[in-house]
Amino acid sequence: MKGSFPIDKFRELRTPFYYYDTDVLQKTLDDVCALAGNYYNYEVHYAVKANANHKVLSIIREKGLGADCVSGGEVRAAVKAGFPASKIVFAGVGKADWEINLALDYDIFCFNVESVPELQVINELAAAKGKVASVAFRINPNVGAHTHANITTGLAENKFGISLEDMDGVIDLALTLKNIKFLGLHFHIGSQILDMSDFVALSKRINELQDKLEARQISIGHINVGGGLGIDYKNPNGNLIPDFKSYFSTYAEHLKLRPGQALHFELGRAIVGQCGSLISRVLYVKQGANKQFAILDAGMTDLIRPALYQAHHKIENITSEEAAEKYDVVGPICESSDVFDKAVSLNKVKRGDLIALRSAGAYGEIMASSYNCRELPHGYTSAELI
Ligand code: LLP
Repeated sequence: MKGSFPIDKFRELRTPFYYYDTDVLQKTLDDVCALAGNYYNYEVHYAVKANANHKVLSIIREKGLGADCVSGGEVRAAVKAGFPASKIVFAGVGKADWEINLALDYDIFCFNVESVPELQVINELAAAKGKVASVAFRINPNVGAHTHANITTGLAENKFGISLEDMDGVIDLALTLKNIKFLGLHFHIGSQILDMSDFVALSKRINELQDKLEARQISIGHINVGGGLGIDYKNPNGNLIPDFKSYFSTYAEHLKLRPGQALHFELGRAIVGQCGSLISRVLYVKQGANKQFAILDAGMTDLIRPALYQAHHKIENITSEEAAEKYDVVGPICESSDVFDKAVSLNKVKRGDLIALRSAGAYGEIMASSYNCRELPHGYTSAELI
């Protein structure tokens, strides 16, 4: 076993595959629960979009978190893993009728509604079932996040949420609809956020909105600030557990909750990111004109983040102790963007070596595709292998 990887077991398995260290996941969950638990009214939902592996979901559910879903498929996956419907929230700009009906049938806790037409459809579908749908409005707070442009969601130019100007009108409309119960407001400004000042800016915006609502004698029971807390991709071993303490205390300090209000969080990456690695075999070491390539059997179909967001994942040769050399680490896909990283320093690589791409527990396995008719990677937990 090198580091915390069961290498002998790995050698028996077909690569590439995802490996989830359940100790790391448990420790992360313990930390989240303990720190959120310092505030009696904080409720953490796990953002299923980050990783819907059934075994991972089950571990998270056992700790008592809720589930944040963005599709009917995710609602199903959450229910299958045992999340109580009373702890499921359902967001997304384009909910199809069948997805709304499914969520109504389960009596989920709350729809995070993103437009007037969506509100009207939910009202009609709930009426047809003789039900009342609980909703929160996702407000686009026009607050930026210091992160990659593709994962910023809270700017006015983004497709997400209801604009600040339209908020009052939408709430007024909701209050007239018989099959709608208005619970509160929902926000999400982006992902992989490490600068707490972004969450301070969101808190301040929410304070302004709450003051406005109060002036109109509208009181709400729930505020949902979404997710977005980032992880340390450069130094996973040094920072295995994200800084939940700063995260929760930032909100505690800056967001003025009214008595009895619950504050909801939808954390994805921070919960599952560091527990996962993509494990791959080296197929070939190829000498180029002025560099060498380590060609892996994993590619952008297994982990698309480097190709899509220029994301960095720490790469380790977990089966070599030889002196380090520099490699461009690439996959087998017929696309020139199928590069995991360039000029990476790795212990000398040879055919058959096992390579770990770290911090791949979030938005890894779940974003895999079968492009090039490739098989989807399997996901194993350490509990299964050790
Ligand atoms: N809530 C909402 C409404 C969201 O849209 C998201 C993520 C989350 C919660 C969870 O955010 P987290 O805590 O994981 O940052 N595929 C990209 C990330 C896309 C995030 C989409 N929304 C990546 O690989 O970086």
